[in-house]
Amino acid sequence: MDSIPVVELHDVSKIYPMPAGDVHALNHVNFSIHVGEFVAIMGPSGSGKSTLMNIIGCLDVPTSGIVKINGMSTSDMKDDELTIHRRDNIGFIFQKYNLISLLTAYENVEYPLILKYGRHDTTTRTADLLRMVGLTDAQMQHTPYELSGGQQQRVSIARALANDPTFLLCDEPTGNLDSKMSTQIMELLKDLHSKGRTIVMVTHNPATAEYADRIVIIRDGVIVNE
Ligand SMILES: Nc1ncnc2c1ncn2[C@@H]1O[C@H](COP(=O)(O)OP(=O)(O)O)[C@@H](O)[C@H]1O
Ligand SMILES: [Mg+2]
Repeated sequence: MDSIPVVELHDVSKIYPMPAGDVHALNHVNFSIHVGEFVAIMGPSGSGKSTLMNIIGCLDVPTSGIVKINGMSTSDMKDDELTIHRRDNIGFIFQKYNLISLLTAYENVEYPLILKYGRHDTTTRTADLLRMVGLTDAQMQHTPYELSGGQQQRVSIARALANDPTFLLCDEPTGNLDSKMSTQIMELLKDLHSKGRTIVMVTHNPATAEYADRIVIIRDGVIVNE
């Protein structure tokens, strides 16, 4: 592929200094993601998957090495440029949904739009997104604890899509769901991928990884199959 990757990691290492000694979470990782790819990252617990995701999503910075976003090194980007990049270009989906428990499903999805535009959503976008992921109009008015795990993950996917990101980063998106719910969520992600979104997903589950068109395996902070 000769297009500029959406994300490139060059010789990226991440060390967490700890009282008992340094933890080398990532060791000299080289890795690129191209537009339109669906990549699954697999590896045992503690192998560095979440650390890798956080660096890809610019939620964290490496101890050494270079991260490029659309060809530009993140070390040349200002903090507010990185914040805008995260807000507008990336949708984050987590295992534990990370919904705000005091807000309704509707308000959770509307929230990123309020952050971006400084006012309530006066369009039908919020409701359209929630309908697209399969919530009914009545369910939209429920708070997260009044919804099942699968419904909460649907809300979190709708929230991730609010700013229409081109890139979805998912850390164990089906980790808290039974196999039927997992299949439904994966079908939803597959559909978003078929509509052109780039997806990077961490998963433990081989059946979930099957949905990806490339599987990257990480062990002890090293990518073993690139
Ligand atoms: N904030 C942190 N501080 C110290 N060590 C951490 C931190 N985050 C992760 N680690 C350590 O880095 C290694 C990789 O962790 P992580 O990326 O969460 O792995 P995974 O997601 O594959 O389970 C583990 O040894 C973990 O204990
Ligand atoms: Mg993890």
